[in-house]
Amino acid sequence: MRVPVSLSLAALGLVGSTVAFPFVEPEAVLQRKSETQAKADAVKEAFQHAWDGYMKYAYPHDELHPVSNGYGDSRNGWGASAVDALSTAIIMGKADVVSTILDHVSQIDYSQTSSEVSLFETTIRYLAGMLSGYDLLKGPAANLAQDSDLVDNLLIQSKNLGDVLKFAFDTGSGVPYNNLNITSQGNDGATTNGLAVTGTLVLEWTRLSDLTGDSEYAELSQKAESHLLDPQPSSGEPFPGLVGSNIRLDNGEFTDGHVSWDGGDDSFYEYLIKMYVYDPKRFDTYKDRWVLAAESTINHLQSHPATRSDLTFLSSYNNGKYYLNSQHLTCFDGGSFLLGGTVLGRQDFIDFGLQLVNGCEATYNSTLTKIGPESWSWDPNNVPSSQKDLYEKAGFYITSSAYILRPEVVESFYYAYRVTGSEVYRDWAWNAFVAINATCRTDSGFAGVSNVNAKNGGSKYDNQESFLFAEVMKYSYLIHAEDAEWQVKTGDKNSFVFNTEAHPVRVMHT
Ligand SMILES: *[C@@H]1O[C@H](CO)[C@@H](O)[C@H](O)[C@H]1NC(C)=O
Ligand SMILES: *[C@@H]1O[C@H](CO)[C@@H](O)[C@H](O)[C@H]1NC(C)=O
Ligand SMILES: *[C@@H]1O[C@H](CO)[C@@H](O)[C@H](O)[C@H]1NC(C)=O
Repeated sequence: MRVPVSLSLAALGLVGSTVAFPFVEPEAVLQRKSETQAKADAVKEAFQHAWDGYMKYAYPHDELHPVSNGYGDSRNGWGASAVDALSTAIIMGKADVVSTILDHVSQIDYSQTSSEVSLFETTIRYLAGMLSGYDLLKGPAANLAQDSDLVDNLLIQSKNLGDVLKFAFDTGSGVPYNNLNITSQGNDGATTNGLAVTGTLVLEWTRLSDLTGDSEYAELSQKAESHLLDPQPSSGEPFPGLVGSNIRLDNGEFTDGHVSWDGGDDSFYEYLIKMYVYDPKRFDTYKDRWVLAAESTINHLQSHPATRSDLTFLSSYNNGKYYLNSQHLTCFDGGSFLLGGTVLGRQDFIDFGLQLVNGCEATYNSTLTKIGPESWSWDPNNVPSSQKDLYEKAGFYITSSAYILRPEVVESFYYAYRVTGSEVYRDWAWNAFVAINATCRTDSGFAGVSNVNAKNGGSKYDNQESFLFAEVMKYSYLIHAEDAEWQVKTGDKNSFVFNTEAHPVRVMHT
């Protein structure tokens, strides 16, 4: 309970009294609050630094090249960083940035590009960025919506984009092509599609239908997903709920039984439980599949390094063999278990999620920069001699030493804090942010680095992915920010659910 101090003292006539007053928050709590506020402000400062550099050197292109102060157009040249930054700018209350981005979105022509379009990347960054901006500005951030036409335009442009992309689903099974030529309505000739890129569309395309009243987008994405929920043949589901990595476009059958939570598979599992959060009535089956997958993961994929049995990582599995390696991308897993655990009231999932979060923290706090690597192993038979010490002490050795501004570890700290309320996770998120700010920051923004276990991160990569704005800045900020409607809640109290790019979309029936 919080009572403003001066008001409550005065109201009760206790000003100047020496009587111990039960509602006054202790000094230590007030101190912690102002430190937390200062941390949220420091993340806002970092966001603004990156935004200013992007505007100066790269806008309206897709991303800043933060070392050379140039720009790139890796996401079809529609201004990916601007669209990806929208929901973070809204949540931080940056009215001028929001206004710039809304103007920008009104000028995008999604029917034009000179390069191949990824259905997955376009959905999670552009489509979700616009839908989230719309949900926030029509809802709890309505005070930032100065021009209502520009807000309405977010939904019009979302529909335009959906209409440009929807031909992708025109295959024998309804499992889409991922790599598209939108000019010729062609594709790259693939015969299969990956698990994550197939299974990470359904939230955005369903939201598009629910907001526009045109059911086509939801139906297309749910038909594709239906093959993932009922995997055929049985070799495509080696453990209950855990499925293979590739699906045939002609008939929707799995071509393998390679199982993991790593990149390529990851957000398929993430969206199963998030669809249930989005609408428990329609997506109950998705939840059942997530529960099966979560239980099988605890039973079959959890793994503890021989040198650090206190740590938990997830292995992968194929054809009777386990592979003892993992990735930065995989570290969303703790957050997924924590979300599912709180929503379903399953303490065993919450506990396991916290173990995964601890493992990911270990990959951060064991390196020289205090940032975790892109990938690592704990296979005792393959430890390189140069990394024996690291493996002995930290429980893993590095197999790819880069850090390219990925968010997943901070993302899981965020869920851990929101679900448990424990300040430990805020401290870990702050340590990560300070390390990223110290190692990756340039004069115009933030750069990936080549070696998290070398002084100053080795060398800098000349690229700033748009997910720096959408994800790293958002989760780093939200964990220290005040409660708000868009924050992740415990139990069944969520009004928003975050897509895999950290864009919050409003759940149904709130
Ligand atoms: C898309 O198809 C058009 C028309 O066939 C062709 O001119 C263009 O080069 C293709 N674009 C890409 C990125 O392949
Ligand atoms: C480093 O990570 C380990 C494993 O999660 C954790 O127990 C420890 O508290 C962390 N150290 C610091 C200084 O945060
Ligand atoms: C981030 O880096 C900038 C530039 O070095 C510095 O001024 C700022 O204090 C840093 N923020 C934090 C929280 O370390």
